[in-house]
Amino acid sequence: MTTQRWTPQSWRAKPAKHVPSDYPDMAAVERVEGTLRQMPPLVFAGEARRLKSLLGDVAQGRAFLLQGGDCAESFKEFHADNIRDTFRLILQMAVVMTFAGGKPVVKVGRIAGQFAKPRSEPIETIDGVTLPSYRGDNINGMGFNPEERIPDPDRLLKAYAQSASTLNLLRAFATGGYADLYNIHRWTLGFVEGSPQGARYRELSEKISESLAFMAAIGVTPDTYPGLHQVEFFTSHEALLLGFEEAMTRIDSTSGDWYDTSAHMLWIGERTRQLDGAHIEFMRGVKNPIGVKCGPTMEPDDLLRLIDALNPNDEPGRLTLIGRFGADKIADRLPRLMEATKRSGRTVVWSTDPMHGNTLKAANGYKTRPFDRILAEVRGFVEVAESEGVHPGGVHLEMTGQNVTECLGGARALSEGDLGDRYHTHCDPRLNGEQALELAFLMAEKLKASREDTLRKAG
Ligand code: PEP
Ligand code: CO
Repeated sequence: MTTQRWTPQSWRAKPAKHVPSDYPDMAAVERVEGTLRQMPPLVFAGEARRLKSLLGDVAQGRAFLLQGGDCAESFKEFHADNIRDTFRLILQMAVVMTFAGGKPVVKVGRIAGQFAKPRSEPIETIDGVTLPSYRGDNINGMGFNPEERIPDPDRLLKAYAQSASTLNLLRAFATGGYADLYNIHRWTLGFVEGSPQGARYRELSEKISESLAFMAAIGVTPDTYPGLHQVEFFTSHEALLLGFEEAMTRIDSTSGDWYDTSAHMLWIGERTRQLDGAHIEFMRGVKNPIGVKCGPTMEPDDLLRLIDALNPNDEPGRLTLIGRFGADKIADRLPRLMEATKRSGRTVVWSTDPMHGNTLKAANGYKTRPFDRILAEVRGFVEVAESEGVHPGGVHLEMTGQNVTECLGGARALSEGDLGDRYHTHCDPRLNGEQALELAFLMAEKLKASREDTLRKAG
């Protein structure tokens, strides 16, 4: 690992995988990056520090992380209702997990900037026609025709604008009364209401309302405790397009440190985590909380070297490790990694992404994920963490508040034949609202069991 001086541009001297270099007019890319450099930051460094401190609590076992949203946001699905539905789904899931786990839940959306996708295949062939792959709405278009697949730098400006208005609405929801805990009954998404998960949620929200009534009786009301009116909500995306991230990176005048102001938290994907690559180089120098995806090929030594590069001062909350092994591999691959972080005394958040290791192609060609494998990976994660004596700190999900049919199974037993009904994702299959809530209940049960176990041991 190099110890050369870091600058926001120093990544440019390193090999950068999945960063497009085939724009027809590279001068236009530079112009767009120059424009972005002049734009206001999307987030403020103090907010990123706040998230880091909350994630520090997660690393120390005092809280949980819930991170979720679209695989890829798109220009076409940009709508206030979609933003609201994802937001309220995250609130609902957080309530379920808080209630059972007895610990605060740190809420982070894959939203307001999650556009760029690393693709396993650079080209796509349909009926004998081969075109460059779709790489996310901030790079090229999804339509299967040569024009749309040409990378267009103006898309970066559009993505910036969409991120800014998405974040604006999220901030309004989080602080303007929508997220008021007294509204807990109203967060249920219409289509979830009649489902078994809806009924479970209603039961739980009634218990919480009773507790709120009790608290009001003893004087704890939104007037005396304004926290009941608001939630803290943070944004995140994969820091894939380093030119964009560089343009959004600014010195924070309070601390004198560099922050990537495109989101509160950024993560490095499974395909771009090479120790000597451009993505690690860029991310080591920004002070935001960051994540690293850890897949089945990662060895303990690789992980320790990455931790040394990205969090040399062992700052709590700086680094979240996001395992994404697949339900069939987690029991084999995760223990050695958790054991290595524990033995070496590194302070990290361990989270699980049960989506990316469980993708398959259905017989009818749809890319999908069986819900029971997703649940199995979550279960496996909590079990391995418990046996390694590590806090199972969080979940990272691809999900939407929409009633989509993209993942198989769940309470309504979606079948391969159902996938075509509402398959809207721009990249990977997402959990729908009902499946996501079911997963939150499962996580909650697991957390509750481990909490009871800990209390028993302590008592
Ligand atoms: C993603 O989170 O969308 C992604 C591409 O994940 P991974 O890097 O783990 O494959
Ligand atoms: Co994905």
